[in-house]
Amino acid sequence: MEILKRPRRNRLNSNIRDMIAETNLSMSDFILPVFLCEGQNKKIPISSMPGCYRRSLDELLVYLREVASKGIPAIALFPQVSESLKTAYAEESFNPDGLIPRAIYEIKSILPDLLIVTDVALDPYSTSGHDGVVNEAGEILNDVTVEILEKMALMQARAGSDIIAPSDMMDGRIGAIRNTLEKANLYNTQIMAYSAKYASAYYGPFRDALDSAPKSGDKKTYQMDYRNRLEAIREVKMDIEEGADIIMVKPALSYLDIVREVKNVSHLPVAAYNVSGEYAMICAAAEKGWLDKDKVVVETLMSMKRAGANIVLTYFADQVDHLL
Ligand code: PBG
Repeated sequence: MEILKRPRRNRLNSNIRDMIAETNLSMSDFILPVFLCEGQNKKIPISSMPGCYRRSLDELLVYLREVASKGIPAIALFPQVSESLKTAYAEESFNPDGLIPRAIYEIKSILPDLLIVTDVALDPYSTSGHDGVVNEAGEILNDVTVEILEKMALMQARAGSDIIAPSDMMDGRIGAIRNTLEKANLYNTQIMAYSAKYASAYYGPFRDALDSAPKSGDKKTYQMDYRNRLEAIREVKMDIEEGADIIMVKPALSYLDIVREVKNVSHLPVAAYNVSGEYAMICAAAEKGWLDKDKVVVETLMSMKRAGANIVLTYFADQVDHLL
């Protein structure tokens, strides 16, 4: 038989492979999530996320100089809040003297160009560990929660956060936050909406890191059901109409189909969140010597770009500069 078509010609050597590569991964694609705690001189390892730490602000500042020098353009700040500050209505979440606003001032004073993403959700601040206010019957109260989220977003934007990232999945919060920011003349503050955030067991290590697991129940009445695809499109469309600047799909790896579909229907930048459990799986297999970590990490992050993500949130961001 005569073979007329030989796709292998385009794979003959690395020069041609690089020239025709359809996807590219670079440091400018990343947002690095970091964990912050109270106190001084603290750098506490997170056992289910090897290589990740909970840092006090002084330690975080030292680390962030290194992060910025690697070309990482943005960080996402996640606080561990002491039990004594947690309340049913999560008032600490909009305290202008709280851990997050103090961190924003300090980070901006030494690294003014590093973009700061701040999380909007009640879970680190609420006694229940839920992203919203819980009533006696165990229901999550949507509209009461949205009012608190507005205060939280406003406080963060005033403190200098570049990108507000509501991860709570309450209905209507993007529009409410956008309105609040506009009224306060904070029209340059971006909103990155966790639009298609699924109720996922892959968040386990993150909840260990912050002690933020729900005390009772689960998050299935607000985070999405992983059996659903069209629902993700509806959520994304609503967040776009309500004024989001960037939309997100989370988790990433088991949801690459959603990333692609969201990319195809939206004309906004899309972010994918390579979550804590996805990080932990690769680290665990690598520790056992069962996988080549460097190669698997690059392949995994590249798959998120190929699926359509413009931005990847990943705990690997500060480990891959020498690989790209
Ligand atoms: C809280 C929040 C979570 C994550 C980011 N923001 C946990 C949750 O929803 O329970 C998870 C991130 C990760 O697993 O890496 N709203």
